[in-house]
Amino acid sequence: MKVGILGSSDVAKSLASGFLNEGHQVMLGSRAPEKLTSWVSESGNSASRGTFAETARFGELVVLAVHGTKSVEAIQTAGAENFKGKVVMDATNPLEMSEGLPKLVGGLGSSAGELNQKALSGAFVIKAFNTVGNAHFYKPQFAGGPPDMFLCGDDGKAKEQVSAICRAFGWNPIDVGGIALSHYLEATAMIWIITAFTGGHWNQAFKLLRK
Ligand SMILES: NC(=O)c1ccc[n+]([C@@H]2O[C@H](COP(=O)([O-])OP(=O)(O)OC[C@H]3O[C@@H](n4cnc5c(N)ncnc54)[C@H](OP(=O)(O)O)[C@@H]3O)[C@@H](O)[C@H]2O)c1
Repeated sequence: MKVGILGSSDVAKSLASGFLNEGHQVMLGSRAPEKLTSWVSESGNSASRGTFAETARFGELVVLAVHGTKSVEAIQTAGAENFKGKVVMDATNPLEMSEGLPKLVGGLGSSAGELNQKALSGAFVIKAFNTVGNAHFYKPQFAGGPPDMFLCGDDGKAKEQVSAICRAFGWNPIDVGGIALSHYLEATAMIWIITAFTGGHWNQAFKLLRK
């Protein structure tokens, strides 16, 4: 499958590495794609780079891995028409990072997941991979077994596809509901972020314990 990932930083590269390991073709997208030259040359023949528009056009699956308060801007730069009919995996968290602990921006009705879906009315946005650090995206190793990946979105088939990606990456997917619940996943990310700041490391992931 061709995967277009909008983003040039840690999250984009970690997801790219997982998709490349799973045998997919990956294009990373940036407003300044030349910054990805060495990533392309280190990542093999299935890796490429492009502008946001080229990357969204390339992807059969498109991933949003940009700064969480800038994702709608990134979508507009990429051109919403380049996402039409596609599944869009949204890993963003809309964080204000000016000082101290990051603060979550938005709420119910104005979460990044909802704003991204609104900007992409012809596509199927699925929020996933936003509640864990990128170092653990692919084949996470935790003593308690495979951790859980919460996801939400409005389209059942799209959620099945993203769930299959989660399983291939070593996660147990949990479908939380529709895209209107994105705020809860973004707020869950804050629990991960706050406990990482206070605990002094990012080596943690969520798992629901059930009887
Ligand atoms: N860090 C983690 O482990 C982690 C885990 C889960 C989820 N997340 C979320 O994943 C997303 C990516 O995180 P990150 O740490 O890899 O990178 P980041 O520093 O949050 O974002 C970098 C990306 O955002 C793009 N960007 C910045 N300003 C922009 C603007 N005005 N318009 C369009 N694009 C813009 C940059 O594009 P250019 O390439 O053009 O500069 C770059 O690709 C964030 O939403 C974050 O909250 C992070």
